[in-house]
Amino acid sequence: MTPDLAPSVRPFAADSAAASGEQAGWWRSAVIYQVYVRSFADSDGDGVGDLRGIRERLPYLAGLGVDALWLTPFYASPQADGGYDVADYRAVDPLFGQLSDADDLVREAHRLGLRVIVDIVPNHTSDQHVWFQEALADRPGGTARARYHFRPGRGEDGELPPNDWESVFGGPAWTRTTDADGRPGEWYLHLFAPEQPDLNWDSPEVREEFDSVLRFWLDLGVDGFRIDVAHGMVKAPGLPDIGRTEQAKLIGAQVLPFFDQDGVHEIHRAWRKLLDSYPGERVGVAEAWAPTSERLALYVRPDELHQAFNFQFLTCDWDADAMREVIDRSLAATASVGAPTTWVLSNHDVVRHVTRYGAGDGELGRTRARAAALLMLALPGSAYVYQGEELGLPEVVDLPDEVRQDPAFFRGDGQDGLRDGCRVPLPWSGEAAPYGFGPGGSWLPQPEQWAGLSVEAQSGDPRSMLELYRSALALRRQLPGLGDGDMGWLQAPEGVLAFSRPGFVCTLNTLGAEVTLPVPGRPVLASAALEFAGGTVRIPSNSCVWWAV
Ligand code: GLC
Repeated sequence: MTPDLAPSVRPFAADSAAASGEQAGWWRSAVIYQVYVRSFADSDGDGVGDLRGIRERLPYLAGLGVDALWLTPFYASPQADGGYDVADYRAVDPLFGQLSDADDLVREAHRLGLRVIVDIVPNHTSDQHVWFQEALADRPGGTARARYHFRPGRGEDGELPPNDWESVFGGPAWTRTTDADGRPGEWYLHLFAPEQPDLNWDSPEVREEFDSVLRFWLDLGVDGFRIDVAHGMVKAPGLPDIGRTEQAKLIGAQVLPFFDQDGVHEIHRAWRKLLDSYPGERVGVAEAWAPTSERLALYVRPDELHQAFNFQFLTCDWDADAMREVIDRSLAATASVGAPTTWVLSNHDVVRHVTRYGAGDGELGRTRARAAALLMLALPGSAYVYQGEELGLPEVVDLPDEVRQDPAFFRGDGQDGLRDGCRVPLPWSGEAAPYGFGPGGSWLPQPEQWAGLSVEAQSGDPRSMLELYRSALALRRQLPGLGDGDMGWLQAPEGVLAFSRPGFVCTLNTLGAEVTLPVPGRPVLASAALEFAGGTVRIPSNSCVWWAV
């Protein structure tokens, strides 16, 4: 069923792209591969992935057939939250290399036809950032404190936090400081870990600094930014109480005084102008949690960012009706603002979808994940692939507590630190850990069963997840009906989704039983073996088929 297709590599010159009008709107159809830098490939044997490791593996990504990479933060950082606590936005952390490695990586990626998107973390800095150190040393009301959210506490002696906000990682969103004389002082806001103080975006200095940081990386040649917590930079005036606990449950369900405030859009509009002032269509991608597809679409209005992650698709259950509803809502919302829809199944913050879809049954999870990949890559718009999903990696659910690093694990009240289990370093080759990840070990232990999941083990095996992704990505480039564009639903039995795109039909059977349907065209790719008989096709349970029509 898997056609023999050579992966196509499309070199381009980033700087001339805009001038020549070549590949205009590349991001509307792009498949973007998320590289979790510390877990992709380690070049120096310290057990942590690095920029040089990524550069050495770029031919793999070009051959896989993706269009761009998104690199998670590699900036100077104490690593309190896997690098999402940045101490210097213009420096590469020695753990990951140096600035020249970033430069080399971007150049080499461009040479191979891959664009590079980097993460930018504007909601908060590290507590080790020079600005926060200055703020701590400043007096209440001082200019250095104005770059963050410092407030006196409530209660008789200021012993209570300034409001009732909770950190996303658990516990109060405020930490009390100690004054120079050793007495308890003001409190500062951190929506994430205490090592991640929130910046105050009302401060013109903060805005200017980030303009300058964006320019720094754009000048180096990056093709855009994935904007961390793009919904969080602006807080409701007066920082009002929420009035209830378990606020993490409200994220993405309603507008909160600290998330999805309308004021964030002004920042994104300003950034869009900045991006547009560079040649080559540099893009902004919002990591935004909004309560509805409609509110999420506000982030991708024509004068704001280019894309936003579609977490509604990621969190959707394996259920045909639910999936259809999410797809319809997503398409309608983005169409209303003329933006492409994006599709994503996994990332470094969620349980890997093989495990999610399997609910305890690994084989079921893999079967559904194969089908989900074909669904995602057939839908209109752009798609995100999280490193390792092309290998069908499951979540590692039995990491010992001693190796866990997720700050949520340490702060959590009933939280289980699940984010480490999706960040285990990739298996590349060989029979034993670290499976070619690098010359040393790996910062999180890799399971013994991963030898069979390595790139080497799967390459050339037509039944492997890796070859399914390679075939799907190659076909996506060849079939003009895929990527950006329209789709229409076709009639299908309960539990089956069928839709058409120009010259193309996709059929997804979400049921636990096979279905027999009339053959709609010529099969070009399927996630499971099909059986044909007299004008009909038997589509196995939990599988997806691509047809040329
Ligand atoms: C985003 C990142 C996550 C990080 C958080 C705080 O949600 O994806 O990994 O912990 O922001 O920066």
